[in-house]
Amino acid sequence: MSDFTIAPDPDLYLPASARGQEPEDWKSETTSIASSLYKGFIENGRRYQTLRSSGYFSPSDERQFETYEVGHILCLLMNIDQPNPLFNSPVTAPKHVLDIGTGQGSWAVDVADMFPDAVKFDLIHLRHGIGAFSPEEWDNLLKQCYDNLEPGGWFEQIEMNLVVDCDDDSIPPDSILRTWGPRFSAAGEKSGRPLDITKTMRATIEKAGFVDVHEKYDKWPIGAWPRDKSLKEAGLVNVQHWLAGMEGYSMYLLTKFGDPVPWTKEEVLVYIAEMRKALKNPHYHPYQRGKRVWARKPFPDEVAIKSEPHD
Ligand SMILES: C[S@@+](CC[C@H](N)C(=O)[O-])C[C@H]1O[C@@H](n2cnc3c(N)ncnc32)[C@H](O)[C@@H]1O
Repeated sequence: MSDFTIAPDPDLYLPASARGQEPEDWKSETTSIASSLYKGFIENGRRYQTLRSSGYFSPSDERQFETYEVGHILCLLMNIDQPNPLFNSPVTAPKHVLDIGTGQGSWAVDVADMFPDAVKFDLIHLRHGIGAFSPEEWDNLLKQCYDNLEPGGWFEQIEMNLVVDCDDDSIPPDSILRTWGPRFSAAGEKSGRPLDITKTMRATIEKAGFVDVHEKYDKWPIGAWPRDKSLKEAGLVNVQHWLAGMEGYSMYLLTKFGDPVPWTKEEVLVYIAEMRKALKNPHYHPYQRGKRVWARKPFPDEVAIKSEPHD
């Protein structure tokens, strides 16, 4: 699916009289549920986990868990052409499975339902680890994954790129949508945990010693605009993922590492409100890139086999 152009649905356009209104499809946003009790700290109205001394940017509260659930459905929809959309690693009856950074565990629960005998590690899965680790930590993590997999076991990772793009100039060059990717890339660099890991994840996996490396690099539509039915469905889920998650994903990063100086909570809220408006513009055809890489730990006597070429 990687590089083809997604055709927009001509029926989505509204009559001129309805300009400025939202299509029905976009009206039902995920609403927030009151946070329940978690250990951690509250800042700018969001609860964060204290994973270690310097914090991870994404909140750990019910609002963000709803976003993770939407992200789970989105990843399934973007892999719906596969016999098992939960993972692409050719593991048919895993007994030992690990899901790193599991969030509220949606993927792990689905995999456990599918393979009720599985305990852990002939498949290690990591999804949306963006912003969780420094480059050195990524190297260490992949090394640990490699060391803890059975020979012949698989590692699979799915990440999103934050750059919002389109194929048809429907998004004006000065649109706020164009600012999101570069802004967060800069904040990620400042924080020491780069966010554009779709660019580096394959190399990190190869460096750890994995072989038989495969990748799927897709355009993930944002909004109901594609003509293709399954991409339209994915786009609808993805726009909800953005609308539900944007504040949580950005508050910590922009109030700590915003450009040129850390932003106030109010500045972040205004930015998010403008982003929301732009994301709901039915005349734009935005997408972001999503990358899935899956790779195998070699058997001891195996000569490294040639991996699939990069994009
Ligand atoms: C964006 S969520 C994704 C959750 C889940 N993988 C999914 O796709 O629904 C990232 C998760 O990584 C976890 N995480 C962040 N930093 C971590 C670290 N240093 N070690 C382990 N987990 C971490 C967070 O607690 C959170 O659950």
